[in-house]
Amino acid sequence: MTAAASVEAARRRTFAIISHPDAGKTTLTEKFLLYGGALTVGAGAVKARGGRRSATSDWMELEQQRGISITSTVLQFPYRGHVVNLLDTPGHRDFSEDTYRVLAAADAAVMVLDAAKGIEPQTLKLFEVCRARGLPLITFVNKWDRPGRDALELLDEITAQIGVEPAPVTWPVGRAGDFRGVVDRRGGRFVRFTRTARGATEAPEEIVDAERAASEEGEAWATASDELALLAEVGQSFDPELFRAGEASPTFFGSALTNFGVRLLLDAVVDLAPSPSPRLDEEGKPRPLDAAFSGFVFKVQANMDRAHRDRVAYLRVCSGRFHRGMVVTHAQTHRPFATKYATSVFGQERATVEEAYPGDVVGLVNAADVRVGDTLYLDEHVVYPGIPSFAPEHFAVARVRDSGRFKQFRTGIAQLDEEGVVQVLRHPDLGDQAPVLAAVGPMQFDVAVHRLTNEFGAPVELNPASWSVARRTDALSAAVLRPMRGVDVYARADGTLLALFESRYWLDRLAADQPDLTLEPLVAGTMAE
Ligand code: G4P
Repeated sequence: MTAAASVEAARRRTFAIISHPDAGKTTLTEKFLLYGGALTVGAGAVKARGGRRSATSDWMELEQQRGISITSTVLQFPYRGHVVNLLDTPGHRDFSEDTYRVLAAADAAVMVLDAAKGIEPQTLKLFEVCRARGLPLITFVNKWDRPGRDALELLDEITAQIGVEPAPVTWPVGRAGDFRGVVDRRGGRFVRFTRTARGATEAPEEIVDAERAASEEGEAWATASDELALLAEVGQSFDPELFRAGEASPTFFGSALTNFGVRLLLDAVVDLAPSPSPRLDEEGKPRPLDAAFSGFVFKVQANMDRAHRDRVAYLRVCSGRFHRGMVVTHAQTHRPFATKYATSVFGQERATVEEAYPGDVVGLVNAADVRVGDTLYLDEHVVYPGIPSFAPEHFAVARVRDSGRFKQFRTGIAQLDEEGVVQVLRHPDLGDQAPVLAAVGPMQFDVAVHRLTNEFGAPVELNPASWSVARRTDALSAAVLRPMRGVDVYARADGTLLALFESRYWLDRLAADQPDLTLEPLVAGTMAE
């Protein structure tokens, strides 16, 4: 007999690691795998760096050239009787829509900060998105083995910058650069760590009592004790309710490189992060975990494997049991969809997946008509809310360099639009001759140009456009807006009309002067545009 989906769901923890580039996301991912028994560090795992490790997560040439991970994959490993699903988010400097979509499939996130840098501005938006969505956030202050900032000061910065209250669960003994261990505030135990060669194996831990700690750690222990007394006084302690609401973030200190604090962090993911819960459908009705299979697509990726040109839709299971070969319904087209080619993706390696439960991610190969946000289900009809796209802030006009390649250009543009690599906007008069590519972060353009050139054989010219703000509008308002200066109206493939403004000031003035015009923000409440 197979277990009920709700029982399997209770064992699952599905989360993403988000960080600034270089804060240590890749290293931490590797160390999670090490502690999950899924990896021997150094054997070639998550990211190619300086040719030392082989690429698993990086599949595109562009990624390899830059040594960054642009696309995301899913890593699944067992840990303490649980099944951990780690969704990899793109590791580049820009905030991109891709990251946002991955977060839509996660039940929690681990935010990694570099102890010497704290919150860095480029990725602040990412953290704000988690905060705005109420996604439970666990904070890991990394690189404590290196000289860095003061722990209390870092906590203040988290509060001030993201508006989430950090609740230290562990507290470092020894200032940044002189890391001895952590006090686990849940029971007051001092956990002392020992380094291993190159951090290739788990860091041995020793529980040391206060008296011994005072005599052996001296000044470092005295400072930590004072700080702990201070924290107790201001009442900064972990509250599970506030964590689940995304308002307080249990905070851990450690060093991914030396494995200090990694086990405590992974334990926290299992012990504190929520397991998958019934997902709300479009009407706000929860679909019970034990209902028939259902899931939604949070990412579509084409041509991952040059050898077989294909298209993979990543689906997060929301209810029921998925088993390979089942024929499900694609809610948007009402068509049957055969799941014969279902895979799990571990880095670049694909393995056929036989079954999956709520919280798991399944890669559906050759999912031709399936788009980001779509729902698949068995038996009882369900449609999950789509994943809203972000208000683009960067715009560029695309033209094919060689008119003989126009067909390829058109195909490529449509494909990138469907995958959500960029948003494609068309002018009623120009259509596909000069579509506007719109993005949240400029890196999305690099990816689009690279793929159009290399994958579709359509080299393009991109000219930055002067618009900076987009608003959703309707046909009536569009007719009023079109003749005006400083604004133009373009359409998305789904027919949504977007008014593009050159300046925020002009938009505000127009909205004030003509309040009847339809000018709606694109993702209400999540982005400070
Ligand atoms: P990212 O994915 O967030 O971009 O960061 P990544 O893990 O690639 O780490 C960036 C750099 O920081 C790497 O150094 C890595 O070794 C280092 N690092 C990660 N965690 C720690 C830590 O806890 N302590 C210290 N001291 N360093 C850490 P690199 O020089 O760029 O690469 P490598 O050649 O050392 O691998």
